[in-house]
Amino acid sequence: MNQYPKRLIEVDLPIKKISAHARREKSIRHGHISTLHIWWARRPLAACRAVICAALWIDPADPLCHEEFREKAAEIMRKFWDPMGLQTRDLDDPLELRRALLDFIADFANWDNSTKKEYLDASRVLTQAAHEALGGVPGTKPLVVDPFAGGGAIPLEALRVGADAFASDLNPVAVLLNKVVLEYIPRYGQQLADEVRKWGEWIKQ
Ligand SMILES: C[S@@+](CC[C@H](N)C(=O)[O-])C[C@H]1O[C@@H](n2cnc3c(N)ncnc32)[C@H](O)[C@@H]1O
Repeated sequence: MNQYPKRLIEVDLPIKKISAHARREKSIRHGHISTLHIWWARRPLAACRAVICAALWIDPADPLCHEEFREKAAEIMRKFWDPMGLQTRDLDDPLELRRALLDFIADFANWDNSTKKEYLDASRVLTQAAHEALGGVPGTKPLVVDPFAGGGAIPLEALRVGADAFASDLNPVAVLLNKVVLEYIPRYGQQLADEVRKWGEWIKQ
């Protein structure tokens, strides 16, 4: 059997902080996919985002972690946590680097940070670096597959952090929700919102 380095989720996860962000997310109404359509078993985006990052990213303290991932992760975390170059953390120490990545995951679970460019850019570079270190062909992305996708929380978060996503579900309503969230909104954006408003008015009249 091939040996492989553990992913972060296999060694640790900042569950308490992620849960706090997930609880707070329940009261968010603006811009959240839960306002599109009710889906009864919808999982908090905070938890999905955190779990996907931790499942895709390699534990830098694992002896089998590739040096190129460790270097890239240290570079990204240094820029992120120490933009002034004050060296508050020794990111050459793999255990400190692991803690920095887990802190990043906890902070990124915050809804307020989910669309900030610095978090999005850092997460996408880490996803790509882990994918290529694990043998992914440069230029391709890792694939997250969710065969029970429901309201689409897992595939949506996979796309957010730079992976590709496949979603399916037995229920045709869930399939339509996933098509809207993952394909139509990214492709048509404002035009789709305008059309929904226009035809909604037409139906009301
Ligand atoms: C717990 S929900 C998933 C919730 C989703 N992660 C979200 O955040 O919205 C489970 C989903 O599995 C689907 N499902 C159940 N049995 C299935 C099957 N045999 N094949 C495909 N989908 C199935 C249900 O329709 C439901 O949407």
